[in-house]
Amino acid sequence: MGGAKADEKELRRLLREAGVGPTLIAKLESAGLLSPRGLKFIVAATPDELVEWLSLSSYESAVKLREAAKSIVGYQSAAVDAAQLMELEERLPKLTTGVKGIDELLQGGLRPGELYEFAGEFGTGKTQLCHQLAVTVQLPEEKGGMAGKAVYIDTEGTFSPHRILAMAERFGLGRSALSAVTVYRPLNTGELERFVREELSGYLEDGAKLVVIDSVIALYRAQYRGMEWLARRQQAINYLLDWLKRWARIYSAVAVITNQVLTHPLPSGVALKLPAGGNIIAHASTHRFLMRKAGDAWLIECIDSPRIPKGASVQFKITEAGVEDA
Ligand SMILES: Nc1ncnc2c1ncn2[C@@H]1O[C@H](COP(=O)(O)OP(=O)(O)OP(=O)(O)O)[C@@H](O)[C@H]1O
Ligand SMILES: [Mg+2]
Repeated sequence: MGGAKADEKELRRLLREAGVGPTLIAKLESAGLLSPRGLKFIVAATPDELVEWLSLSSYESAVKLREAAKSIVGYQSAAVDAAQLMELEERLPKLTTGVKGIDELLQGGLRPGELYEFAGEFGTGKTQLCHQLAVTVQLPEEKGGMAGKAVYIDTEGTFSPHRILAMAERFGLGRSALSAVTVYRPLNTGELERFVREELSGYLEDGAKLVVIDSVIALYRAQYRGMEWLARRQQAINYLLDWLKRWARIYSAVAVITNQVLTHPLPSGVALKLPAGGNIIAHASTHRFLMRKAGDAWLIECIDSPRIPKGASVQFKITEAGVEDA
């Protein structure tokens, strides 16, 4: 309690030093933003959003407020050269999937600040892989984890604590692995969007290093039916993923979404299987993977990535203990 008050006092001082006036500081206070989390919210927001939400007098004052918040929370968005970038990237931990083959496909694991999409038909292992990541993220860095917690947004009602427990045992974690996974089950897209924009950062502030949305598309497909809703639906998905990516960058967390696959019949008679959600999800995802089941084996293939060759793939299997090397 005393600590929070002292923090608040210190933040006031820092804000004043950074040129934020007393009226605006009072506004931040009444909006509940005078905290480290609140300042990160200001960093995550665009100036236009700040003008609207805080009834600011001008775009410029919103820009100034964001700059002040950035300097206080130490968020760097200045330009760096490629050598510096390489050094920065090498220092970042990479999250292991717990599967050697998939880690190699991912060039060492999943990187914080990036958005990974796993698309596939039913039963192709998307949910199993997400469960496994919610466990491996808890491992210490020397074991390929991020010593972090997980937030699992379960839109399809398929999250299973039993699967977490089974996987946790395999990785040498006990029952405590369960309490490090926060599960949220939104009933509609409004709840999903509100959670990601307004609640998620609370968990990230509290040490979550992985955010899963399994799946990103189900609620949108159920709610926005028909062509006349398509533009609105795409805009809403875009906004959701944009917030997810902002938080992943600000908190150095790994973001993962799963996606369904749609079949597009071609005149030739061949059916093309593509992830749902069109260009919006395609562009938002840093890396896209297609998962398939072929007989008794599963396959994961890269379909788009700035680093991983398109078409690169690896087999895996799913057992009682989780996702494993084939
Ligand atoms: N306890 C278990 N032991 C062995 N295999 C399991 C176990 N639980 C799940 N599986 C395997 O995982 C498969 C389901 O994978 P998963 O739930 O990840 O599919 P998905 O890609 O998420 O599908 P959907 O699109 O329906 O959500 C099952 O078909 C089964 O083969
Ligand atoms: Mg699933």
